[in-house]
Amino acid sequence: MSYYNDVAEAAAYLKQKIDPLAPRVGIVLGSGLGAAAEAVADPVIVSYGEIPHFPQATVEGHSGRFVTGMLGGVTAAIMQGRVHSYEGYSPAQVTFPMRVLGALGMRAVVLTNAAGGIAEGYRVGQLVALADHINLMGWNPLTGPNEPRFACRPGAGLRFFDMTEAYSRRLRALAHEAAREEGFALDEGVYLATPGPSFETPAEIRAFRTLGATLVGMSTVPETIVARHMGIEVLGLSCVTNLAAGLGHSLLSHHEVFEAGRQVEARLAALLTRLAPQIAALLENEA
Ligand code: HPA
Repeated sequence: MSYYNDVAEAAAYLKQKIDPLAPRVGIVLGSGLGAAAEAVADPVIVSYGEIPHFPQATVEGHSGRFVTGMLGGVTAAIMQGRVHSYEGYSPAQVTFPMRVLGALGMRAVVLTNAAGGIAEGYRVGQLVALADHINLMGWNPLTGPNEPRFACRPGAGLRFFDMTEAYSRRLRALAHEAAREEGFALDEGVYLATPGPSFETPAEIRAFRTLGATLVGMSTVPETIVARHMGIEVLGLSCVTNLAAGLGHSLLSHHEVFEAGRQVEARLAALLTRLAPQIAALLENEA
């Protein structure tokens, strides 16, 4: 069996489970942000363990459930938890769920994560829309033969493709507007991905700031690369769960990250509930 067939099998399994729901918007919820899935009405819940070939989430704060249902009046597919390469998963496994979202027909995804704040002025608990990223994971999930059958739009699925607008400008504009309507402002930032699982040293954070990063985390970038390969539009949202190493007064811990994520969940859920129908409408007008 090929990787492509494994993805098709996982998607077929989910399709039959969620039938007749046809999700329009895909959402991935990062560390400690999983409760945003509770905003979904009439959810159909499938645990990752049931889905053929699907990698299992092993990190606390990632519950490993695929939740499909109504969010703000449109059908959304929400991944409650993701997997990372530091858990021992290969690049292909880390991005397997994103391939499945593509096979399910998603044309836009919202990728959320917990991140350390590098930029001056960031506060713990704030949400930041990603304008760009820096890949310092040391690997690219597209290494290996190109698989053009993953394309979700005409012209996608190429060996070489543009990353100038990895994070959709128009989805970001919608996010800013939705945040304003919710009564808060979204910053914009540049997310730098490390392989983890250790947090950074203060010297690394100083280096990353010099490179132009305003946020640091251990996820999202591989998913964004694979989504863009398929021609899927990406909105990236980071929750600043801590000031990056050496910038705050305390040592970093997963507990702190997890707790800060929990405090922002309600705001994130409100934002996603407002955004989902707007993203769906944008895509609809195009079809
Ligand atoms: N560094 C890396 N990943 C993270 C951090 C951090 O400070 N906070 C949350 N995820």
